[in-house]
Amino acid sequence: MDLPFLLVCILLEVLAVKCQNAAQGRIVNGYEPIPHSITYIVSIQTMDRQHICGGFLINKYWVVTAAHCNIGVNKMMIVAGDHSLSIYEGTEQEMLPQLLVPHPAYNSTTNNNDIMLIKLRAPIYLNSYVSIALLPRQDTSVQEGKMCRVSGWGYTNPEGGTVPSTLRTVKLPIVSTEKCNSSASFNGIITENMLCAGYSIGGKDACQGDSGGPLVCDGRVYGVVSWGKGCADAQFPGVYTAVSKFRRWIDNTIFSYYSRCKKN
Ligand code: ARG
Repeated sequence: MDLPFLLVCILLEVLAVKCQNAAQGRIVNGYEPIPHSITYIVSIQTMDRQHICGGFLINKYWVVTAAHCNIGVNKMMIVAGDHSLSIYEGTEQEMLPQLLVPHPAYNSTTNNNDIMLIKLRAPIYLNSYVSIALLPRQDTSVQEGKMCRVSGWGYTNPEGGTVPSTLRTVKLPIVSTEKCNSSASFNGIITENMLCAGYSIGGKDACQGDSGGPLVCDGRVYGVVSWGKGCADAQFPGVYTAVSKFRRWIDNTIFSYYSRCKKN
């Protein structure tokens, strides 16, 4: 093989991978919400602006995401007020984290306690593009069949498809832990700190890249996108961190850093 030919081959290879990445859309079988209608969601990115996870604001200093999104405090930036990740819309606010607080009992093998708090270096400016999400009270349960909404910039399907880099959203019913843990499904590996949502026939789901994002029921974030088996497979709903099990931990953590700040 001569050199020019080889170079063309390499270029094509690189382009194919790039195109494939660009084509892998967001949220399986959802739709694009009205831009800036989901104002509490953030995109967690690497310093070179690669989206890795979702998250959501709970006050102007704090973001909630999944513990498995922890890439290190110096490698991460948070973007609020975004819709299209590839277009500058003028509504984005970029913020660096000051501190990451993954749940102390997070277990990367079982995915138990997959939740993390991020404190921002400076407060986010709240406006019509950026707002705060409400959380459920400690131990509030959400009824089986209740329709909830999950949103994110993750894949639209595990293989690919053509979608722009805009936010996507999909409505899903809550699946009882009992059903989710049945032998036909996750067979006992769903803990009390997890929540399942999806259709038994599959088709709609969160997917890779949606992690850390919010599952909202009745206007409160009950779930954090955590894990699954593939995406949108029949019998395998998406698995979320049950936020209501961590309400006390969230409040206590935020309060402890607030008082620490006041003392210094
Ligand atoms: N762990 C994935 C992430 O890092 C999220 C997987 C969610 N999967 C699902 N089928 N709901 O983005």
